[in-house]
Amino acid sequence: EGNSKESRGALVVLEGLDRSGKSSQCSRLVSLLERRGISAELWRFPDRTTSVGQMISSYLTNTSELDDHTIHLLFSANRWEKRSLMETKLKTGTTLIVDRYSYSGVAFSSAKGLDMEWCKAPEIGLLAPDLVAYLDISPEKAAERGGYGGERYEKLEFQKKVADCYEVLRDVTWKAVDACQPIEDVEKQLQEIVLDCVTECQKGRPLFSLWS
Ligand code: TMP
Ligand code: MG
Repeated sequence: EGNSKESRGALVVLEGLDRSGKSSQCSRLVSLLERRGISAELWRFPDRTTSVGQMISSYLTNTSELDDHTIHLLFSANRWEKRSLMETKLKTGTTLIVDRYSYSGVAFSSAKGLDMEWCKAPEIGLLAPDLVAYLDISPEKAAERGGYGGERYEKLEFQKKVADCYEVLRDVTWKAVDACQPIEDVEKQLQEIVLDCVTECQKGRPLFSLWS
């Protein structure tokens, strides 16, 4: 606990259904932080640039088939392979704005029928976000938005199950933002909660692990 009051970057995660607007909001947040002179990076999971990430990508594009447990563990491994870099970045003062994280891992796999506790197990020990902003949109509304891209999970029936699983995962630390509002309004709300979180972490909020 000796260095628990050290200033550090914030681990901010955006979660939500496919087409909820996470990616554009993540970019906007990083631009905002940079304008304010706050060191920030945009990260995303899956990180398709690693060799594990390439296996995930070919699964998502239906180029390969994998057992549900296997792909779950690959998504988790993809976070584990970035864990130490994540910790270094945070401790050296860089805020990470992360497009999806463990909650996507658990929500999407349990939506297939895998046991939720089993899904959480490989995530134990990953860094816990300081803030999870949930972009709240109904599966129907999300599906109306310029269509899905055709990747494996981008189907209304499946997204409904994912929404139910997110609902179970949602805890007191999550901040839900109504993602049906105009993009600038969503942006404004996110800015406020993210800047508060960055300030907390600058003051030296301790870094926790999942799932605590
Ligand atoms: P993306 O569209 O944000 O690149 O994510 C690709 C898909 O992968 C998306 O449908 C959500 C899903 N996913 C999982 O199933 N498990 C995970 O751990 C993550 C990060 C994403
Ligand atoms: Mg996608």
